[in-house]
Amino acid sequence: KQKIILDVDTGVDDAMAIAYAVAAPNADLIGVVNSYGNVLVNQAAKNSLEILDMLGATDVPVFEGQPHSLESNTFEVMEVSEHIHGKNGIGNVELPASSRQVQEQSGVDFMIEAAHKYGKNLTIIPTGPLTNLALALRKDPEIADLIGNVTLMGGALTVPGNVTDAAEANINQDATAANEVFRSKLHDTMVGLDVTLRTLLTKNETKKWRDLGTVAGEKFADIVDYYIDIYAELYPALGGCSLHDPLAVGVACDPSFVQTLDIDLLVHTDEHNYGRTTGDKDHLDDPHPTASAAIQVDEKRYLKTFMEYLNYLFANN
Ligand code: BDR
Ligand code: CA
Repeated sequence: KQKIILDVDTGVDDAMAIAYAVAAPNADLIGVVNSYGNVLVNQAAKNSLEILDMLGATDVPVFEGQPHSLESNTFEVMEVSEHIHGKNGIGNVELPASSRQVQEQSGVDFMIEAAHKYGKNLTIIPTGPLTNLALALRKDPEIADLIGNVTLMGGALTVPGNVTDAAEANINQDATAANEVFRSKLHDTMVGLDVTLRTLLTKNETKKWRDLGTVAGEKFADIVDYYIDIYAELYPALGGCSLHDPLAVGVACDPSFVQTLDIDLLVHTDEHNYGRTTGDKDHLDDPHPTASAAIQVDEKRYLKTFMEYLNYLFANN
């Protein structure tokens, strides 16, 4: 089984990403690192702990990472995130309290340690800003050669951003960090808006969770229905909510869900283009690009797998 670490800013779709990672039979979730973004880092960690516990994954350790981007020292949550994910990040739904604590070790050190321990068998899946991973690289550049793959939710190559025309939310939080990750020797697979905006969930699916009559089924239906309602308001043409973060986990576990383009990526950090992900023009001829971007998705097959995994998990919790 491949070892996976999630790096989340839990968030409604991050919560679904955690559920997918817990349920996926070919993945061994060895830790959940938290960052800021949809909510502040301590709230993200609280949400992650409660979600894991509710799903019976009480042995998965939870870590806090950096509280803000590399180049700022302010702690803030974008108004738009609060609007999309609710004040507490999970649709203002209250979950049973966890009796566990966040680990003392920092999430950054945990990732470095895991890279040395598991090497190519380790996949890191960031579904929030890339600050923690960039810091891990600064602290121990060797890990770029060790880690098997980084499969991240973020960026937009063939479509506009969702925060500005240039930038997708996770990259926009810390474009410097994202660029350092892309420009490193790490092998990255970018699962961006190109594919996540085409992978949708509706209330037909959340109703199936609710009908299970379990705590997890009901709570997840409440959390995700909140998000579906907001998506209906903001993006009426889509007809559902995007499965951004759980798609990244799906691709990490089964890369055949998407078609990818091998390309050396970079992230713009100038004011006008802040957060834009493009091909690095100085490296477009590299014979071995270290990054690839998902540009097509088999959303039907993905959704089927997603529902199989989550139904099973929720039915038993
Ligand atoms: C990404 O931004 C966050 O709000 C979501 O959780 C997801 O990771 C989508 O742009
Ligand atoms: Ca997220």
